[in-house]
Amino acid sequence: MPAEVRAWRKAQGSLALVPTMGFLHEGHLELMREGVRRAGTCAATIFVNPTQFGPNEDLSRYPRDFEGDLKKCASAGVSAVYAPEPSVVYPPGYQSYVTVDEVSQGLDGASRPGHFRGVATVVTKLLALFRPEVALFGEKDFQQLQVIKALAKDLELGVEIVGRATVREADGLAMSSRNKYLQGAERQRALSLSLGLRRAQAAAAHEKDCEKLKGLIRAELVKGDAREDYVAIVDAQTLKPLPKLDGRPARALVAAFVGTTRLIDNVEI
Ligand code: PAF
Repeated sequence: MPAEVRAWRKAQGSLALVPTMGFLHEGHLELMREGVRRAGTCAATIFVNPTQFGPNEDLSRYPRDFEGDLKKCASAGVSAVYAPEPSVVYPPGYQSYVTVDEVSQGLDGASRPGHFRGVATVVTKLLALFRPEVALFGEKDFQQLQVIKALAKDLELGVEIVGRATVREADGLAMSSRNKYLQGAERQRALSLSLGLRRAQAAAAHEKDCEKLKGLIRAELVKGDAREDYVAIVDAQTLKPLPKLDGRPARALVAAFVGTTRLIDNVEI
């Protein structure tokens, strides 16, 4: 399969790549359409990457809809979809991994040990295989985006990494394949993440103390009966915590459990 991909790639001009884990939603399709706009041709990958899941995470039940995904890719103008088996990506004897030291620390890196090593490894492999001019990722996974930007720069992969704004449902919930896990009232309670972030974003016009701003986010999580994993306000580039907003680009991020479903969201602040 990698040989076929290389042969296909050679026949293309400028290429955009959108790596995904499938169960596609409007956020993915927006990346694909933007890929077509930027490069003319866009390929997508669908691969539920086992190395980025912890032992007690949702690898075995991650939602899948391969046939539906192919139709959605076609509707977004995607020319080729690569959906390898895990044994093709990680054949017996596989032993090479990519780690990105600094921006992988804290936040999801702390809550999900090994997660970004798995993400960095598979994304590096996909970029090496396709050699796209541009690769597109959603800002919903903001830390992931910084990890991928760092690896593309440090390893001089010659690809432009483009982050695109989170696509939201009409009521503000960030689109995510994992929203499918939300049962009944949990869908409404899940709004506490985006509501809290919006409240903090609005308050930041006059309140610069990050502990107070985080308090606003936490208050919404409590109202929605969502269990905090982390609430953070960080420098948008280094992802280091900020005590006060001081004019540099900053990001507010939240991870919380609604029932057993772990959700993440973030906004510029
Ligand atoms: O964001 C995702 O869907 C995945 O983490 C990615 C980037 C496709 C790597 O498996």
